[in-house]
Amino acid sequence: MAQVKHIGVLTSGGDAPGMNAATRATVRTALANGVRVTGIIRGFAGLISGDFEQLQARSVSNIIQLGGTMLKTSRSDEFYEEDGRTQAAARMADAGIDALVAIGGDGTFRGLRDLYEEHGTPAVGLPGTIDNDIYGTDFTIGFDTAINTALESIDKIRDTAASHDRIFFIEVMGRKCGAIALEVGVSGGAEGVLVPEVPVDLDKLSEAIIEGKEQGKTSYIIVVAEGAYEGGAQPVCDIVTDRVSLEGRVSVLGHVQRGGSPTSSDRRRASRMGRAAVEALLEGERDVMVGVSCGETVLVPLEDATTKKKRVDLDLLKLAEITAT
Ligand code: F6P
Repeated sequence: MAQVKHIGVLTSGGDAPGMNAATRATVRTALANGVRVTGIIRGFAGLISGDFEQLQARSVSNIIQLGGTMLKTSRSDEFYEEDGRTQAAARMADAGIDALVAIGGDGTFRGLRDLYEEHGTPAVGLPGTIDNDIYGTDFTIGFDTAINTALESIDKIRDTAASHDRIFFIEVMGRKCGAIALEVGVSGGAEGVLVPEVPVDLDKLSEAIIEGKEQGKTSYIIVVAEGAYEGGAQPVCDIVTDRVSLEGRVSVLGHVQRGGSPTSSDRRRASRMGRAAVEALLEGERDVMVGVSCGETVLVPLEDATTKKKRVDLDLLKLAEITAT
């Protein structure tokens, strides 16, 4: 197996706080091992167009604290076509790049697998998405920052909800995964949490709110994952406020959850993962993802990361329910 001498690093899919920390660790670990590093701009789109930039240790100075991604990112439809990948492999060969480190979500990993299967490109994926929806890792890069950003907003909304005796429906990100909603639902003391993994029962929610009113509750926070109900939080608000006779408001937190300076945990995990990715490639690993399991850094086949479904902790729903009475 040929020794890896030149790594390309890219970020792909939705950005996530901590991607820069992962890029920094990848670059510096590679250079420390005498391996060249090229930054690929705008993810797979840049791999196809050859938008490459040679990176040195100083190229990644002062980025560990920054949200977003200095490498830029995109969701490339072209890369999901075989022709796009063939072009990308040719660009890599021209530039002498012999392996990839890609930071992104499951779409990114599927792209890596296809590239490996068709062109034998050694690749390691780092889970970078605020959704925390990747099988094989307890945490994805960006999740911790996103939940803390959302929580800060929920706490502020609670102030105004309590002052006005209102019910707020707060929509958080997560089209297919309720991890963010579950986490901030519990930590934000929400009276209700709606997630895509569990069929929404607005009768039950309305009854619980009415029961709370009878017990003296005057304001409520209901956290709604964006994919939990067709149309998001607004239709839930319209239906429920009508039934419970409370004044309702909707607050969609949106992309604010994707930005901001990464928390210490995200920076640490991202740094660990970046280092582990390069070391894995140097040890001959291919087609794997670096994950974190029970505090340990682990390697997970990309096949598992892309085909197996991570289960969210639905016990958090029960916990939110019990602690919000
Ligand atoms: O995958 C991360 C994520 O932020 C999801 O939570 C959200 O549904 C989606 O990306 C939004 O994507 P876009 O920024 O392309 O609208």
